[in-house]
Amino acid sequence: MNLKTLHLLLTTAAVISATPIVVKRASVAGIDVSHYQGTINWSTVKANGVQFVYIKATEGTTYEDPDFSTNYEGATNAGLIRGGYHFAHPDSSSGATQANYFLAHGGGWSGDGITLPGALDIEYNPSGAECYGLSASSMVSWVKDFSTTYHSTTGVYPVIYTTTDWWTTCTGNSASFASTNPLWVARYASAVGTLPAGWAYETFWQNADSGSNPGDQDIFNGDSAGLKK
Ligand SMILES: *[C@@H]1O[C@H](CO)[C@@H](O)[C@H](O)[C@H]1NC(C)=O
Repeated sequence: MNLKTLHLLLTTAAVISATPIVVKRASVAGIDVSHYQGTINWSTVKANGVQFVYIKATEGTTYEDPDFSTNYEGATNAGLIRGGYHFAHPDSSSGATQANYFLAHGGGWSGDGITLPGALDIEYNPSGAECYGLSASSMVSWVKDFSTTYHSTTGVYPVIYTTTDWWTTCTGNSASFASTNPLWVARYASAVGTLPAGWAYETFWQNADSGSNPGDQDIFNGDSAGLKK
């Protein structure tokens, strides 16, 4: 290498290192809704740039969201990518039983490019012991039972919706789903923060419980093409 080449290389290196590297992460806006939101104007939601929605379908084995079908059809007609979610009650029946109930009431999946894998909403018990009275190992077994049942019917693993705090407390921060189940983490802050063990990244981030669109506000960690996949 002659001196002129060396000088050129050094100058180029200096220019490169002086240039701030801005890595802009691709992301897609979404929401999640239930009957609490009442009637939703899906064309407005779509016009606002929302591209996907998770819609509450079921809870335990005794509750179907009365607006699930209306919301699902509205979102579909507006051209949104959509899927259902199930609120887990791990104290009332097995994971398999609840997965089958969810599958029978809107939680199914199809590889049509507009359907998100069903999501398991597993989090703070709204009425009772935080972990529903289950030990960490029983909780992990319950989630496994739900997940493998869902997978054996649909061919995809359900998304797991939770918070890092709940997951740490109630599963002992189990890393045994990170290689199979996409993570949908809830944290109402400006950064997603520490994730539950094993997951290198979140697939969805619920970053606010209200915003400019109905329901909770979500971000897909990728671009539109990734979301369709
Ligand atoms: C939804 O909102 C749009 C404006 O964004 C409006 O034109 C339309 O009438 C609304 N639809 C219903 C059913 O209210």
